[in-house]
Amino acid sequence: MQIDITSNKEFYSLIRSILENENFNQLKKVTHHGLNRYDHSVRVAYYSYLITKFFHLNYQATSRAGLLHDYFFDDFANKYLSLVKHPILAVENAKKDFSLSPMEEDIIASHMFPIAPTVPKYIESWIVDLVDDVVSIFEKAYSIRHQLSAACNFLLLIIINSIK
Ligand SMILES: [Fe+2]
Ligand SMILES: [Fe+2]
Repeated sequence: MQIDITSNKEFYSLIRSILENENFNQLKKVTHHGLNRYDHSVRVAYYSYLITKFFHLNYQATSRAGLLHDYFFDDFANKYLSLVKHPILAVENAKKDFSLSPMEEDIIASHMFPIAPTVPKYIESWIVDLVDDVVSIFEKAYSIRHQLSAACNFLLLIIINSIK
């Protein structure tokens, strides 16, 4: 599940300045799909990088914007509002700490389409949107499997103790 960021020198060089930013590192403390938002962002950036490089697209933009696509810390009581509003918050936060190209801004702003209304303008934006969906499904499944496994172990312990 964990990606060794430094194993791909090109990918690492593209995102290094973001990874070294103190504010960005705060994402390690934020729970996301039962894991953490920093690792989720790295996964989305890395798979977007691989796909867009393979198709000779702008992999520099997908790496950086993939990493910044969920750069927000706000907690929403309403789940739907969170899904719709967080891309705009991520753009605002990313612009405060980094300079974004128009494509990078679009990738971040539109990554929740069609749940959020911003339609992707570039093929790179569609790819990051899709990669985010696939990565999110795998992360949720991974997290649920681990929770189930922990619950089963706990249940087993109770049964064994009650038999003794
Ligand atoms: Fe998101
Ligand atoms: Fe995401």
